[in-house]
Amino acid sequence: MADSNRFDGKVIVVTGGGSGIGEACAALFAARGGKVVVADLNLEAAERVASEIGGEARAVHVDVADPASVEAMVRFAVETFGRLDVAVNNAGIGGEANPVGSYSIEGWKQVIDVNLNGVFYGMRYEIPAMLANGGGVIVNMASILGTVGFANAPAYVAAKHAVVGLTKAAAIEYATAGIRAVSVCPAFIVTPALDQASERRGEAGHHRAPPGQADGYAKRSSGARLLLGV
Ligand SMILES: NC(=O)c1ccc[n+]([C@@H]2O[C@H](COP(=O)([O-])OP(=O)(O)OC[C@H]3O[C@@H](n4cnc5c(N)ncnc54)[C@H](O)[C@@H]3O)[C@@H](O)[C@H]2O)c1
Repeated sequence: MADSNRFDGKVIVVTGGGSGIGEACAALFAARGGKVVVADLNLEAAERVASEIGGEARAVHVDVADPASVEAMVRFAVETFGRLDVAVNNAGIGGEANPVGSYSIEGWKQVIDVNLNGVFYGMRYEIPAMLANGGGVIVNMASILGTVGFANAPAYVAAKHAVVGLTKAAAIEYATAGIRAVSVCPAFIVTPALDQASERRGEAGHHRAPPGQADGYAKRSSGARLLLGV
C-alpha cells in the first residue's frame, strides 16, 4: 500500500493513549512507522500499550489537567525522539450524570480541567515544540457532543463545544506557520469510558457493539482510521 508507512520517522504524542480511542490511534501510528509517545494518567496502561504496539513506542505518565505535567510530557517526547510532529490531545472523562441544576461544582471543575483545560495545556506546550521544527499536526478529540446538546452531561457538552472553538482559534493563528490544528467529533464508539458513562446514566448496554463483534471493541481501530484520516 502506497501510504502504509506515511508516519515513518514522525514523532507522535497521544494523550489518553492507555485505553479506548487513544490506544487505537497509538497502535495505528505505530503500525504506520511512527515513533509514538503513549501518555496517560494510568502509567501501567500506557506501558502496556507501548509494549504491545511495537516500534519505538515509549510510555509516559501525564495528568493533562496539570500544566507542569503536560509540559514535562512534551519535553519527554522531544528529549526522547528529538522533535514533535503530531499530537493527539485525546484524554478525556465523561463526568457525572446530572442536569445543570444539580451538577456538582467539583464535578464541573474536574470535567473542565481534563476535557478543556487539558487540551489547552497540550497545545500550549506542543505548539512551541512543533514550531521549533517547522510545523506539525494537532488533533483534538472533541465529540459529537461538541456540536449538539445532550441531557445530563452539561460539563462534557460545554467542554467539547469549547474544544471545537479553541481548535478553530489555533488553526487560524498557526496555519501560516505550518501547524494544522483540527478537532474531530466522533459519535459513540464502544470503549471503557462509554461503558462507564452508560452505567452512570442507567443505560448499561445501550451502546454495546452489535452481535458478532467479539469483544465489543472491534470497531475502535477502524474508528481511529476514520477519525485521523489515515
Ligand atoms: N467513546 C466515545 O463514544 C467517544 C465519543 C466522542 C468522543 N470521545 C472522546 O474520546 C476521548 C477518548 O475517550 P475513550 O472513549 O477512548 O475513553 P477511555 O476511558 O477508554 O480512555 C481515556 C483515557 O484517558 C485517560 N485519562 C483520563 N484522565 C486523564 C488525565 N487527567 N490525564 C491523562 N490521561 C487521562 C484514561 O486513563 C484513559 O486511558 C475522550 O476525550 C472522549 O471524550 C469518546
